[in-house]
Amino acid sequence: MSQNRPPRGLRSRLSRYGDEEFALFLRRGFLKSAGFTDEALDRPIVGVLNTSSDFNPCHGTAPRLVEAISRGVRMAGGIPFAFPTVSLHEAFSYPTSMLLRNLMAMDVEEMLKALPLDAAVLIGGCDKTIPAELMGAVSADVPAIVIPVGAMLAGRHEGTRLGACTDCRRLWAGFRAGEIGAADLDRAHDRLMPTQGTCMVMGTASTMASMAETMGFTLAGAATAPAVSSERMRLAEATGGHAVKMATTGAPRPGELLTKSALRNAMVVLQAISGSTNGIVHLAAIAGRAGLKFDLDELDRIGREVPVIADLKPAGGNFIEDLHAAGGIPALLRRLRDHLDLAAKTVTGETLGQVIERWAPYTDDRIIRRLDDPVVAGEAIAVLRGNLAPDGAIIKLAAATPALCTHQGPALVFDNLDDLSARIDDPALPVTPGHVLVLRNAGPVGAPGMPEAGALPIPKKLAQAGVKDMVRISDARMSGTAFGTVVLHAAPEAAKGGPLALVRDGDQIRMDRASRRLDLLVDEAELARRRAAWKPPALPARGYARLYAERVTQADQGCDFDFLSG
Ligand code: FES
Repeated sequence: MSQNRPPRGLRSRLSRYGDEEFALFLRRGFLKSAGFTDEALDRPIVGVLNTSSDFNPCHGTAPRLVEAISRGVRMAGGIPFAFPTVSLHEAFSYPTSMLLRNLMAMDVEEMLKALPLDAAVLIGGCDKTIPAELMGAVSADVPAIVIPVGAMLAGRHEGTRLGACTDCRRLWAGFRAGEIGAADLDRAHDRLMPTQGTCMVMGTASTMASMAETMGFTLAGAATAPAVSSERMRLAEATGGHAVKMATTGAPRPGELLTKSALRNAMVVLQAISGSTNGIVHLAAIAGRAGLKFDLDELDRIGREVPVIADLKPAGGNFIEDLHAAGGIPALLRRLRDHLDLAAKTVTGETLGQVIERWAPYTDDRIIRRLDDPVVAGEAIAVLRGNLAPDGAIIKLAAATPALCTHQGPALVFDNLDDLSARIDDPALPVTPGHVLVLRNAGPVGAPGMPEAGALPIPKKLAQAGVKDMVRISDARMSGTAFGTVVLHAAPEAAKGGPLALVRDGDQIRMDRASRRLDLLVDEAELARRRAAWKPPALPARGYARLYAERVTQADQGCDFDFLSG
């Protein structure tokens, strides 16, 4: 071994006993006990980060992916070591998976730094997993390649195609409004999620898989191949094979891919696919790990220039399997080429420009629309500012009711999530369709963990009267599969003394799409009086939730821990 070269393979990151040769002797001994020969142990080591969990049905295919990745590693002359990490599923993460994203990111970072691996394959998928893996990998600075688990196939039910969870929400709203009976709901429920994999609309999981592919962290095509397809398994095998090259060369490291250009390209694609608003928080956190700032105003500017061209639910009508058959992310990138920096590198060493040149020329215009024939006239995601959100708030215009995007109305305030669930269906709730529903103390500190509660349900009495949408404002997030005129991520949040804490029932709130303003029409002297009387809520008493509430940053900075950025 050269004197200047950092130790590789088993010799790297030896446990510290004060005698490195003994540490290696011991390590090799334990692996011999597992049946490894010296020849096997001298190969480049690829760590396979296994997010399989019985509590994570979205990752139900992860064991098969581990098998395929490991096969690819062995075929390329390396040796795979699979290891577990925190695995987060949206429906199995009380109180919200966002609270645990940073825990998973820390787990990933620390294990990548602790284990003797030369490169890592990151199996991600369900919403928070790819963000957490990229955050951890960027901080660990270990060569890493992502393989998403892939999306479910679409469901088919009585003449329609169903997609989780856009149709989960639509069906539930219909049930609440009395338009769908319990028996009909049950039948549809059985067909909503027909295979393993992540949600098959452009929700947060597919948004983050698309972001990972756009920023060069996956092989081309890996964001969209269905979870249960043989193509997904072949991609996994190829990913394992490529990881051996990375293990041998030590490149690229995540920080080499995560450049300003890559981040800007991600913003372009986020707008063009009308991606999940959660993607903004995650991209900000991933960027922060590399010391880069995620500029909300740039995202807003890009939105005005780049139309929504991916015809996918919830903004459009199709599913991730359709995007894949239409040409996938490379075909989408080719269509967006004039808006992208094509010199940005990918994990194979190819530039984005080279990827789209070699990609099959076929593109289905019905799914990946031409720029002059967009799915949504106007921008997908906009950034609002004003005295209600000095550090920004987000609205997904593509999923909103256009007539409500410029609106003034009286506030109806819910002080927290418990207050919301206690009163939203009260027949005596003093609410009209013109009210602005405000939910506060649901941000990163206030909830804590900024749950996906921003799409407040339409109060039952209005839903039953046929009201489908209202203006809703909060410091919470919203699922990427949801829709409505919903203003999210208001920063700073109420629990940090942000202006949402000062709103009272009946105050007029004005939102203006054209000027991107969001204002509370109460004079400054009155607001100062209310501010003086405000008291911060108590923080969780102990443990990880306490650490989280004390050190989490606000939504515009990615809700990472302040001591993990840079
Ligand atoms: Fe896992 Fe939707 S719940 S991707």
